[in-house]
Amino acid sequence: MLSFTKRSEYVKNPILEMDALAAELSRKGRDVIKLNRGDPPLYFKTPTYMIEAYIEALKENMTNYSSASGTAELKEAVSRRYKRMYGVSVDHAGVIATAGVTEALSFINHSMIEKGDSAILFRPHYPQYLPRLMSENGTPVYCDQLMGQDWDVHLEGFELKIASLKRSGRIKHVKYVIVTNPCNPTGKTIPRKTLARIAELSNENNLLIISDEIYDEIVYHGAKFTSMSEAAVGIPHILLNGSSKNYDSTGFRVGFIVIPGDDKTSMSLKEKFTDYALTRLSINTPAQHAVAEGINNVKEHRKAMKAMVKGMQERAETTVRAIRGNRHLDVVMPDSTFYVFPRIRLSGLDFRTGDEFVKSALLEEGVQLTRGSAFGAPSNFRIVALPGKEVLEEAMSRINRMCARHSRTP
Ligand SMILES: Cc1ncc(COP(=O)(O)O)c(C=O)c1O
Repeated sequence: MLSFTKRSEYVKNPILEMDALAAELSRKGRDVIKLNRGDPPLYFKTPTYMIEAYIEALKENMTNYSSASGTAELKEAVSRRYKRMYGVSVDHAGVIATAGVTEALSFINHSMIEKGDSAILFRPHYPQYLPRLMSENGTPVYCDQLMGQDWDVHLEGFELKIASLKRSGRIKHVKYVIVTNPCNPTGKTIPRKTLARIAELSNENNLLIISDEIYDEIVYHGAKFTSMSEAAVGIPHILLNGSSKNYDSTGFRVGFIVIPGDDKTSMSLKEKFTDYALTRLSINTPAQHAVAEGINNVKEHRKAMKAMVKGMQERAETTVRAIRGNRHLDVVMPDSTFYVFPRIRLSGLDFRTGDEFVKSALLEEGVQLTRGSAFGAPSNFRIVALPGKEVLEEAMSRINRMCARHSRTP
């Protein structure tokens, strides 16, 4: 009799969990608007110069395994990117190419988490941080980002949590702290001072700092993005990034772990992740060439990003504007990414939970969202503000209509 491991129960993706239902509704003729998956190339074409580089790679027969931790060309490009953008020096060994940030998360958890260990996540958090952690029998320790007029990392809460972990002796089982900046799902950048404090306190307590910066070029409204590499100078840390969002090519499956330091911790991380890369031989070789070109052709990249980020900003604004007047929702205007993460005032509606709200949005109005509980914020829901203005306006008017229909008060 086939049986699966207990740990495999954690292998789930809540962002895609209603895809089958949405497809069934579409088959039955419903007009379903999908706002669940953050997949930019569906709405903004991957830049032609990168597509051409991919084709060129195929024509040049770059169809072999690449060096397991990434081609020299990609490593060089990534190194230059960090120098150019953040003034940080990263050697080739400090760049490990992965099949997306997703694979980097596997390397991290598999190499660092033993049964009973923990990692600190800031809620609301990117959902896919959990399956890999929990399938290594690790548990999350939550700190919070608070939603008011804006989203703010609750630093005092973080400090109190560290103090309490120290008191209980649990701190030695906490292996890393992961920060997502800019943040999916809040759509906000994290200020430099906050990052510096997180880095300082983590380092004092031997917690490795991981910063997922996969949206670091999708920043607007004059927001200032600070990379952890700028805020944690001299402190060992890992940066996660890749081509999916900043280079508008999710399907290329190219990510990179970047380790800028040359201290003992950083050196052993570089070695360990290189070993992991060796076990799966290679990532997509032609895609690495296309991404290297994506990074190296700064002029074309800037042009493409300018247009894409402008489009993303406008779409986020359209979305927020369309629901601001809805008295059942609170919403913060993002300054980065393409996510909007409203909070539902459940007391005024006849839904018992945010999950129910999200399910009804699909069943009653044909709008597919993602439930906030997947991000650790059960009263919120996530909108991927990527389709065009008209589609977003239509989707938001359906949500407003659903709220009016379910309102407890006239
Ligand atoms: C914060 C964050 N990290 C990682 C990923 C996944 O990245 P990749 O496509 O490189 O696996 C996503 C995708 O949405 C994300 O939002």
